Amino acid sequence: MKKVAIFASGNGSNFEAIVRYFENKDVEFLCVSDKKDAYVFERAKNCGVQSVHVPFKETADFLRANKFDLVVLAGYMRILSAEVLRLADFINIHPSLLPSFKGMHGIKDAYDYGVKVTGVSVHYVNEEVDAGKIIAQVPVFIEEGMSLEALEEKIHHVEHKLYPVVVNNLLFSQKVDYGFLTERV
Ligand code: GRF
Repeated sequence: MKKVAIFASGNGSNFEAIVRYFENKDVEFLCVSDKKDAYVFERAKNCGVQSVHVPFKETADFLRANKFDLVVLAGYMRILSAEVLRLADFINIHPSLLPSFKGMHGIKDAYDYGVKVTGVSVHYVNEEVDAGKIIAQVPVFIEEGMSLEALEEKIHHVEHKLYPVVVNNLLFSQKVDYGFLTERV
């Protein structure tokens, strides 16, 4: 049985997409949040997944006491120290084609810049924000006249399809490719 911790600070839609993808598979999830009242806890309850509030300062102790095959960051709004990053393998999802549009507002920054293609990146986590080795990327085209809201929706749709497959590939050393997501929709 693989053990995976998903760290989220807020909404948790990626958390839910991953957990649903692995329903009836041999993976045990734990929902971890630094925020006591994060909506992700609601989702965890509905999905039947255990959850725990871990204040940011207690993250290292928590990971020393609890071992995971993978730690998945999904809207976790904290920068982890080298000390913490040594305690597990961490991956993150970012709503742009890195290295463009790092930071908190990847979707809006790409939209405001006027790029015609943005997308979703999944990467390993290092001490620098959104800068670890890239694992997978999927493009999202910004059509003429598209609203920011429509772009956000499209990006999140791709995130929810991509992230579970990446997690699956890493946990089970599989090589499902991401081509199924790259067609222009
Ligand atoms: C996602 O857009 C993800 O790319 C970014 O934070 C957002 C989290 O959304 N890192 P949710 O909490 O999974 O709904």
